[in-house]
Amino acid sequence: MADSPVSTHDPKDSSQSLEPSPQEQKKMEQAYAQMKRKMTMQEISKKIKHKIMVLSGKGGVGKSTVSTGLALSLAQQGLSVGILDIDITGPNVPKMMGLDGRRLHVESGRIHPAQGHLGVKVISMAFLLDNEDTPVVWRGPIKLGAIQQFIGDVEWGSLDYLIIDFPPGTSDEPLTVAQSLPDIDGMVIVTTPQDVALLDSRKSITFSESLKVPVLGVVENMSGYTITGNAAPGTDIEIAAPAGKKLKTTADENGAFSVTLDIFKEGGGKNTAEEFGVPFLGALPFDPGFVRGGDDGVHRIVSEPEGASAVAFAAVVAAIQEQIVDSDSSSLEII
Ligand SMILES: Nc1ncnc2c1ncn2[C@@H]1O[C@H](COP(=O)(O)OP(=O)(O)OP(=O)(O)O)[C@@H](O)[C@H]1O
Ligand SMILES: [Mg+2]
Repeated sequence: MADSPVSTHDPKDSSQSLEPSPQEQKKMEQAYAQMKRKMTMQEISKKIKHKIMVLSGKGGVGKSTVSTGLALSLAQQGLSVGILDIDITGPNVPKMMGLDGRRLHVESGRIHPAQGHLGVKVISMAFLLDNEDTPVVWRGPIKLGAIQQFIGDVEWGSLDYLIIDFPPGTSDEPLTVAQSLPDIDGMVIVTTPQDVALLDSRKSITFSESLKVPVLGVVENMSGYTITGNAAPGTDIEIAAPAGKKLKTTADENGAFSVTLDIFKEGGGKNTAEEFGVPFLGALPFDPGFVRGGDDGVHRIVSEPEGASAVAFAAVVAAIQEQIVDSDSSSLEII
C-alpha cells in the first residue's frame, strides 16, 4: 500500500465530487494549451538569436522588399535566417523569395518553413491560401489567435536572425507578436522620402513606445534613382531632373558617368530619425529591379549580389547589427 495515492476524497459524499464539469474541463484544457504554447514560444525564442520587426505607418513603402532584402543580405554573410510574413490579407514575401504557390509542410504537428533563396527559411500566411487571388478575411480575434498559433507551431530550428514582416499600419499584429515572442531586439521603420509616409513613420515610432520594443532605426526606401551611361571621356553632362532641377556631371577617363535623381524629396528618413532621436540606418535606392524581382520571383540581391542595391542593403544590415551589439552590451532601450 506504500505507493497508493493519498486521497481526502470521500466517494460516498457526492457534494465533494472532484469530477470537473464539461465547462471546467474545457477551461482547464484551454489553460493547459495556453501554458504549453507559452513554453513552446519561449523554447522557440531561445533558439533564435535575434528578432527584428519591420514596420511602417503607411502601406506600399517597401516593408516586404526591405524584409526580404535584409534577410538575404544577412544570409549573404553566411548567417542562418528566417522570415515570418504576418501579412494575412496581402502576403507577397513568398513571391519575392521564389516560393510562389508553396504549401505548408507539416510533420508531427509542427510546421516546417519553406526554404527560399540563399537558404532563407520562410513562413507566410500565404501558405494557408487555397488560391492566391482569394483574400483571407479573418476577423480580429481569429486572426490574432491564428498568428499566435502559427508562431508557436513553427519549427525554425536554430536561427541567427528572424525578420518579421507586417501588414501596413500600427495595428494589432505587432502587438500580438511582441506579446508572443519574447526578447525582440527591436523594430526597423521603413519610410519613403515623401511627407505623408514620413508623418506615418512618426506614428510607428510613437507606437514602439507602447509596444516596449526599441526602435533600431529608420530606413529610407526608394531614395534616389541612379542613371549611368557612357560618353567621350571628360564630357560635361547635364540631366533634367524632377522639380526643374538640372544635374551636372562629367564623364570619367573611361567615359562612364552616373547621376542620382531624387524622384521624391530628399533626406526625409534622416530628418525623421533625427527628430525622434533614433538612428538613421541608411537609404535604399529606387531600383526597378525590385519590381521585376517581385514579379518573377528572383530578388534583386540574388540576381545582382554585388549590385548597388545589394551594397546599400549590406550597409543597412551593418547599421542594424551595430545597434544590436550596442543594445546587447548596454541593455538600454533606444527610445
Ligand atoms: N527600392 C525600391 N525601388 C523600386 N521599387 C520598389 C522599391 N521598394 C519597393 N518597391 C516596389 O514597391 C511596391 C511595394 O513594395 P512592398 O510590397 O515591398 O511594400 P510594402 O510596404 O510591403 O507593401 P504593403 O504595405 O502592401 O505590405 C512593390 O511593387 C515593390 O517592388
Ligand atoms: Mg508588404
